[in-house]
Amino acid sequence: MRELEMSNTLLDWYDRHARDLPWRVSPSDRAAGVCPDAYRVWLSEIMLQQTTVAAVKSYYERFTSLWPSVTALASAEDAQVMGEWAGLGYYARARNLLKCARVVAENYGGRFPETAESLQKLPGVGPYTSAAISAIAFDAPEVVVDGNVERVIARMFAIRTPLPAAKPEIKERAAKLTPVTRPGDYAQAVMDLGATVCTPRSPACGICPWMTACAARKLGIQAELPAKTPK
Ligand code: ADE
Repeated sequence: MRELEMSNTLLDWYDRHARDLPWRVSPSDRAAGVCPDAYRVWLSEIMLQQTTVAAVKSYYERFTSLWPSVTALASAEDAQVMGEWAGLGYYARARNLLKCARVVAENYGGRFPETAESLQKLPGVGPYTSAAISAIAFDAPEVVVDGNVERVIARMFAIRTPLPAAKPEIKERAAKLTPVTRPGDYAQAVMDLGATVCTPRSPACGICPWMTACAARKLGIQAELPAKTPK
């Protein structure tokens, strides 16, 4: 499969199988080209940095009902935000969350900047998170690579170099696959594929939309990838 055929195949799969997550827009809104609110994308991505989707859902719902906009969050009491964060762990994230909300409210008029480069200047927003926000909220063709995506790409191209040394090669492959249309949906589609089909153990190759293109599957080594440098 060529790159464009691969991304189209995956987007078709996403249209049918996308996980219904509270920070996503509905399939019909997606079809109409609606992008989710940057505040909501940012909040979800910060919460998801070191925490599972299942654990994040209820916290995300609570935060967005208490503080429906970045300006609302910016004027919250520190103690209330820290209290609501309790249980999610990695508390530096919550401190940076407030710092970032205040910078966006005060220096950006309450609107998140749109490019990955400018997003990365915000507190708590690194290379992964800036790319994810820019792609998902603003449909910029950013290359979004998290642990799920690394696994999917390492398998698709049978990259045997262990992590973390394989990261540049994975990023290069991921960049070639990222489409200019619907890059935000594409980014989330690869994440969903990694989380639900191309799982770390016992990947469900039989139902994978990329089954025929997968080099690791052809070699029968999918469960061994990505390789990791022994600690
Ligand atoms: N993990 C991190 N960001 C995510 C997203 N937008 N959807 C699903 N899983 C994720």
